[in-house]
Amino acid sequence: MKGIVFTEFLEMVEDKFSEEIADKIIESANLESKGIYTSMGTYHHGEMLELVTRLSAETGAEVSELVRVFGEHLLGRFHDMYPAFFKGHNCQSFLASVDQIIHGEVRKLYPDAQLPTFDCIEEANGFVMHYQSRRPFADLAEGLIYGAIKHFNEPFQLNRQNLDSEHGPGTAAKFFLTREP
Ligand code: HEM
Repeated sequence: MKGIVFTEFLEMVEDKFSEEIADKIIESANLESKGIYTSMGTYHHGEMLELVTRLSAETGAEVSELVRVFGEHLLGRFHDMYPAFFKGHNCQSFLASVDQIIHGEVRKLYPDAQLPTFDCIEEANGFVMHYQSRRPFADLAEGLIYGAIKHFNEPFQLNRQNLDSEHGPGTAAKFFLTREP
């Protein structure tokens, strides 16, 4: 997993909780990287799960809730860092551009990026995003999608259906975005 995800996560922990908690979770986790991340570097995605598990133990919040909150926060950070990806879009067209356009650019920039796929299917009253990955980040996807709905301020209701996958729990899900009447 790219270092930018880790650096953004640790900055969020410092902002939403404290610097002490950020230091504490790094110290208590058994990390190959020792918690030293650069945005261009690549680290095992297990380190992210380890850090979130430690944060959960420290704060009492559920792991899945913390990952969703991080996803929502990350969407805002992506908007600050890469506004061009958002320009001229509504919520649906933005989310439909993630798989081919946004993550396509990410792949060009970081050829070793490990990205999920999102198939978007148009429905009568909204659309469905089908998330598939080799890594268990459906909660992160949910937070990012929720963040996009908030960002574009459109009246979509978000529902999730977890799917079975050979890659294990959290690696496949359908997200239903339904326009509220
Ligand atoms: C400007 C917007 C975005 C940028 C720049 C961006 C960039 C990235 C980058 C750099 C990674 C890490 C890849 C790696 O670790 O190798 C990543 C992973 C991921 N992205 Fe995006 N992304 C954006 C928007 C979104 C949105 C809106 C969604 C949800 C619909 C999304 C879903 C994910 C997920 C779930 C992962 C985790 C990896 C996995 O599930 O296998 N991204 N993205």
